[in-house]
Amino acid sequence: MTKPPHDLFLAAKEAMAKAYAPYSKFPVGAAIRCEDGRVFSGANIEVASYPEGWCAETTALGHYIMGSGGRITEVAVIAERMAKVTPCGGCRQRLAEFTQPDTRLHLCDNDGVVETVTMEWILPYGFRGDILK
Ligand code: THU
Repeated sequence: MTKPPHDLFLAAKEAMAKAYAPYSKFPVGAAIRCEDGRVFSGANIEVASYPEGWCAETTALGHYIMGSGGRITEVAVIAERMAKVTPCGGCRQRLAEFTQPDTRLHLCDNDGVVETVTMEWILPYGFRGDILK
């Protein structure tokens, strides 16, 4: 069995500390590891006009895209006030765009990874863009 990726958990937790969540007071952090070992992270960013805010996973994906990260091998997500937070529906779709069905997603509490699932498991029968190409 592979060791829980504590460094990726720590990257997500560090990102969570930078969350801007004055309205929900629900800080979230996410970290993405690429095949070349690089890690891209992000936190949720809220806006007074609530629907304009966005999720930690989306910030992390933005950093991943701008960093020209290669194949994603694993993702970790953490929320300060909830153990095993799972990505929202929109973020599942966004993550699916840049991952594979067997990409691992690590769900964390404040001390580390507590459960590991796959993208396919959290977004079964999802819409895929192949047909649009
Ligand atoms: N949030 C995330 O950052 N990721 C998720 O997958 C779930 C929700 C954020 C959005 C908002 O800033 C706060 O958590 C409460 O919904």
